[in-house]
Amino acid sequence: MNFSRENLDKYIDTVIKGQTSDLNVPVEACLVEGPVEPCTIVIFGATGDLTTRKLAPALYNLYLTGVMPDSLVIVGAARSEMTHIQFRERIKSAVNGMDMSKWDGFAKSLYYQAVQFNSADSFNKLSKALKTLEKDLNPKGNKIFYLAIPPSFYARTSEMLGNAGLSLESQNGNGWVRIVVEKPFGRDLKTASDLNKTLHKHFKEEQIFRIDHYLAKETVQNVLIFRFANAIFEPLWNRMFIDNVQIIAAESLGVENRAEYYEESGVLRDMFQNHMMQLLALTAMEPPSLLQPDFVQDEKSKVFRSLRPFPAHDSEEVLVLGQYASGTINGEPVAGYRQEPGVNPESVIPTFAGMKVFVDNWRWHGVPFYLVSGKRLAKKMTEIVIHFKKAPHSMFQGILGEVATANVLTLGIYPDEKVSLSFETKNPGAKVCLRSVRMDFNYRQDYAGPVLDAYEKAIMDCIQGDHMLFWRQDGVELCWSFLEPLLEDCENCADRGKRLLFYPAGSWGPEAANIFKSERS
Ligand code: BG6
Repeated sequence: MNFSRENLDKYIDTVIKGQTSDLNVPVEACLVEGPVEPCTIVIFGATGDLTTRKLAPALYNLYLTGVMPDSLVIVGAARSEMTHIQFRERIKSAVNGMDMSKWDGFAKSLYYQAVQFNSADSFNKLSKALKTLEKDLNPKGNKIFYLAIPPSFYARTSEMLGNAGLSLESQNGNGWVRIVVEKPFGRDLKTASDLNKTLHKHFKEEQIFRIDHYLAKETVQNVLIFRFANAIFEPLWNRMFIDNVQIIAAESLGVENRAEYYEESGVLRDMFQNHMMQLLALTAMEPPSLLQPDFVQDEKSKVFRSLRPFPAHDSEEVLVLGQYASGTINGEPVAGYRQEPGVNPESVIPTFAGMKVFVDNWRWHGVPFYLVSGKRLAKKMTEIVIHFKKAPHSMFQGILGEVATANVLTLGIYPDEKVSLSFETKNPGAKVCLRSVRMDFNYRQDYAGPVLDAYEKAIMDCIQGDHMLFWRQDGVELCWSFLEPLLEDCENCADRGKRLLFYPAGSWGPEAANIFKSERS
């Protein structure tokens, strides 16, 4: 196991000598499982936003953490001409501010190859360049093609790779090839299924990794552990005890520099078709018999299949759409969505949605799931909140006029990475009064070792061929089937603009979204 000395020392100091008594947990077991095979990672879109903001820091941090294989080759591929040295400089500025003590070692694994996406010749040159690197650096023929490019280029790039023979795996089990696609997977059911067919022309299902970075967040992974590694919660996890579930992904950021993409997607495609559906599935699914990718995906798909279809028209009862107007975030004035650079000044794209969803099965019959996500809200906050039913009879009511508040279990995803349970206690004092208190667990409590962030975890899982935290195509298509009628209703109705409620940046969204709140216990 290639585990860095510094991290080991840190672990010994903080965990073994210090705060936790659980010495049976081997430190490396929490970072990676099994050996990490050598490989080449080709990043298409190497000069783009995703590479700069997420992939470069993630790859470098994996290197810093000491979990990367010894023979690692990273090839940036994009349209511009650039030397290897220039590419290294570019990546260096993307990781600016991180620990640079191992930069020189990492930089040696970085290479660049200009690629024109519609030129077969260009892909043949890439193939040749990879073969040369293969001879020199010996990544054993293992390759990952990471498509960090606009989704409209996915199909063509996958075809070009296939035509250049780059999707072929060697017969002897060495030399695997994988392709990573980022959401959005299509913009509706048909385009998602077309994309899948194109990918499958040259890649087998096990070679395809459909990334959703939410799944790789520590606290999102923890939802299944919390639910199924404890015996005390599961008996309560159903319509008998749960009144409603709220899944909230609030962001204070606006559209930033992604207007072109966002004008085509809006919050429903950007957040609901993927991240929100996954959070819902993890909360609502049945326990799989084993923690294996297909077993878990099967259970998620059952949840997606059980979603109650939205009414064909008049979805106002179950859906509130909003768009941010100008307002204040952290004391600073910010522009409204329509005033953001690149946004149509009359745009009717929603930046907020509140949705009431039912999972029509035995466990969840009649329990509403409220899904809320929006940009430019009061603060960044992602959480799953389980509102339990009130005590069936309040013996305090008649005597004290007090009503016992129902228990609330909060699974904080970000930035409060926590599990928190509220319950009623006696308020100290002679008089019998109730008070609500909270029992909190901070996810990082008693742990000071290294953690992989979402992109790091996703990249590592892809290198290790583990599909657990990626989408399976049936899930993608089931979610599109579920959301499509709603998208059609919103996008094709004559009063599209009227459906949209404006909310000031820095608020909690349109007031109408409070209809959900008033229904809460
Ligand atoms: C992305 C969306 O998938 O998730 C963005 O495209 C959004 O619009 C982001 O801001 C939110 O991710 P996180 O990890 O910051 O909650």
